[in-house]
Amino acid sequence: MIPKKIVIFISGRGSNMEKILQNSRDGILKGICEPVLVFSNKSTAPGLHIARRFHVPTAVIESKGKKREEFDRQVLELLKEYQPDYIVLAGFMRILSPVLIRAYKQRIINIHPADTDRFQGVGAYRWAFENHLKETKITVHFVDEGVDTGPVIAKRAVDLRGAGSLEEIEKRGLAVEHIFYSEALKKVFSENN
Ligand code: GAR
Repeated sequence: MIPKKIVIFISGRGSNMEKILQNSRDGILKGICEPVLVFSNKSTAPGLHIARRFHVPTAVIESKGKKREEFDRQVLELLKEYQPDYIVLAGFMRILSPVLIRAYKQRIINIHPADTDRFQGVGAYRWAFENHLKETKITVHFVDEGVDTGPVIAKRAVDLRGAGSLEEIEKRGLAVEHIFYSEALKKVFSENN
C-alpha cells in the first residue's frame, strides 16, 4: 500500500496531532499515512513547535479578519504544493466553507469531542459536564457543509462516572481521543486503497 499523504490542520495545543505524528513515525499508522504538512490558521498555535520537533513542514495562514471563502481559497492554493490525499482536522477551530469541502469531498476528516447526533460546535466537554453525563462519546467523521453533521466513521465512549470537574472530563476524553483518532484514521486509509 502506498501511504496516504495527509495534511494536519490545527489551531492550538496539537495533542491529537502529536499522537498522529508519533503513530505515523513508529506506531499503528506507520506505512499507512505520511504527514506532509502541519497547517495552522494561527501563528501562535503551540502545536506548531511540536510539529517542528517531528521535522514535519509547517505553514500558517492567519484566518483572523478574513472571510471564510477568501481564507479557504488561500489554503487551497497552499495545498496544491503538497497534493494531500486527506486533510485531517485536529483541533482546527474554524468552520470550512464549500470552497475547501468540495475540493476535498469525503477527504476531510474531523474529531469531535461529543456524539455529533447530540452536540455540535464548540464546548463539547463543558456540555457533558453541565449535563452531568455518565458517559459521552467521541466522534470521528467526514466533514460536509454543515457543522459536525458529516458521515460518521466511528464513535467511541468515554466513561465519565465519578468525574467531578470539567478538567477531569477533558482529561478522560483526551485520553480516549489520542488512541481513537489514529485507529479511526487507520480504518479509513486502509479501506480506501
Ligand atoms: C480536542 O478535544 C478536539 O476534539 C477538539 O479540540 C481539542 C483540541 O485539542 N476539537 C473540537 O472541538 C473541534 N470542534 P488538541 O489541540 O490538543 O488536539
